[in-house]
Amino acid sequence: MNHLNSINNPKAELHIHLEGSLEPQMILNLAKRNNIQIKYSSLAEFAKAYQFKNLQEFLDLYYLGMSVLKTENDYFDLTYAYLTRAHQDNVTHSEMFFDPQAHLERGVSLDIMMSGLWRAIVQAKADYGINGSLIPCFLRHLSENNALSVFDDLMNYRDKIIGIGLDSSELGNPPAKFKNLFNLARKEQLKLLAHAGEEGPVSYVWDALDILGVDRIDHGNAILSDQALIKRIATDKITLTMCPLSNRCLQVVPDLSKHQAIELLNHDVCVTINSDDPAYFGGYINQNYVELATALNLTDAEINKLIENSLTAKFV
Ligand code: ADE
Ligand code: ZN
Repeated sequence: MNHLNSINNPKAELHIHLEGSLEPQMILNLAKRNNIQIKYSSLAEFAKAYQFKNLQEFLDLYYLGMSVLKTENDYFDLTYAYLTRAHQDNVTHSEMFFDPQAHLERGVSLDIMMSGLWRAIVQAKADYGINGSLIPCFLRHLSENNALSVFDDLMNYRDKIIGIGLDSSELGNPPAKFKNLFNLARKEQLKLLAHAGEEGPVSYVWDALDILGVDRIDHGNAILSDQALIKRIATDKITLTMCPLSNRCLQVVPDLSKHQAIELLNHDVCVTINSDDPAYFGGYINQNYVELATALNLTDAEINKLIENSLTAKFV
């Protein structure tokens, strides 16, 4: 089996958390540059720590890792490094998530974040021709009031974002908690996304569609257990941004041969393949394609369909 040719085709990445592309070596470099003490002092210690039983265990380390980001240059370096790496995988468009609340909490201003992220997007476009867009995600473990206040401040940068998302700890934080936030974002004509059905039940996916009115679902693994929901998602052409290596690392699936992507694709769902948090889960976007193709013995037609879906489902 040699799928490398099709996997190398131009593609879009629609589900990548910039903070999840922060490689251990960059965490060490930034900690030194910013004079910040961190728990791990070598690549070996990171490798040992990066073993997760569930989403929360990962999130605890993810928030710790990003605590080294302080200056405009740090945000530039993070974003430019990701776009450089994505370009090597022949990504032509990337719609990138970031978590403003996780940085504001540590005293980093929106101005610092947005300037660094935006400067990297402009530079990477000039250097590689890659198109980068930004989607701030709201942390569902925090209150809706906190989200509303940050949303208000983010509107000073309305021209630099294409949508909003919902991420962080899913269980116990249903979509309905953020109904007012999503209504406001809809009025601003922003695209609407939510992580749903990653660890949470199918009811969270229904609610993301019916209560929040999302345009795309991030993950959506749980959908396969609900025929009516599969039909709804296929009929309404709601894209799923799935992330195989993430799902394996966070034990959403026991191994990639049990991954739901291709069964959903065969039910006419617009499935796409993405990396989620590549520095934590063992690979960037092409590695996700390669390992899924190997585990499920994918045909070239299936790989091409997944790639084509990414290009039709991109917002920009
Ligand atoms: N934030 C970063 N990665 C995430 C994931 N896989 N699920 C929920 N929130 C996240
Ligand atoms: Zn994600």
